[in-house]
Amino acid sequence: MSHYVVTGGAGFIGSALVRALFEEGARRVVVIDNLLTGKEENLEEVRDRIEFHRTDIRCYEELAPLVRGADVVFHLAAIPSVPRSIAEPVLTHEVNIDGTFQVLRACRDGGVRRVVYAASSSAYGDTETLPKVETMAPRPLSPYAVQKLAGEYYARVFYTCLGLETVSLRYFNVYGPRQDPNSPYSGVISVFMKALIERRPPTIFGDGEQTRDFTYVEDVTALTLKAARAPGVAGKVYNAGNGGRYSLNQVWEILQRLEGVRLPPVYGPPRPGDVRHSQADITAAVRELGHAPRFSLEEGLKRTLDWYKQSAGKIRS
Ligand code: UD1
Repeated sequence: MSHYVVTGGAGFIGSALVRALFEEGARRVVVIDNLLTGKEENLEEVRDRIEFHRTDIRCYEELAPLVRGADVVFHLAAIPSVPRSIAEPVLTHEVNIDGTFQVLRACRDGGVRRVVYAASSSAYGDTETLPKVETMAPRPLSPYAVQKLAGEYYARVFYTCLGLETVSLRYFNVYGPRQDPNSPYSGVISVFMKALIERRPPTIFGDGEQTRDFTYVEDVTALTLKAARAPGVAGKVYNAGNGGRYSLNQVWEILQRLEGVRLPPVYGPPRPGDVRHSQADITAAVRELGHAPRFSLEEGLKRTLDWYKQSAGKIRS
């Protein structure tokens, strides 16, 4: 296989996937991104090896020629963030649901061999049992969760009714280098990193005892590549997590220890649409896709912190 397309390839996860593709010998990588949340600088090291298109996934006419004939399309383009989907339900609906539909439609029309779709752990909502297994009924709590789940359903019926091979991966709170800490909608670990480097206390929404299965970006990209070629998995959905669970208070404790500082957090009101606990059962991904996460939270945090320190000049807003 040699011809890949990554939608959202200038984003934090998408750009890591592009680098991983080249590491495993990919020859042709087409990146589609409208640069709404993605940044070209995320692709700095591979800029002269990729074909970059500043294209919006809602536009079928522009998209169709770019995906035609590809071996695999990795569909990561989305507007992430639970609070952003509450603040901007129309825009996020259009990009996350309509855009996903147009990507699937273009892939089907263009004879793409397989689509790997970045779904989200938010689909589970507050299910009572932990860890969360793919067989559980979804209970989305926010527009974002509904939108990512709708994309998953579309991916499945594009396989069952329209013959396009798709695999959905429910990403669980991915973190790592290049995650943008400067937006009001930034992922919590990037926000913690920035606060730590600037020696400021972070704001924690709620009591900080909510837990997440924080997953290091390289573990997610490795699994995403495996999903592109695993046999017998078309139409399925898998958890893409680490399998652990840490509270925000624990994460902030580890980070303070790594830096040797004490900065007690400020606690604010809980965030609407927030899930209380999240943890992936990764049994199916291990068995059927060969998932093998390599990074403990502490190791992932160390690597991430190193990157933020080296890039401190760049991440300042
Ligand atoms: C959710 C999904 C995740 C998805 C992400 C996309 C779940 C369980 N996870 O992440 O799979 O990739 O959306 O955006 O639904 N927080 C603070 N202070 C801050 C920022 C956040 O305390 O400055 C808290 C939030 O209230 C939340 C936790 O940190 O409890 C994690 O928030 P965030 O990083 O935004 O991710 P999720 O919403 O959990």
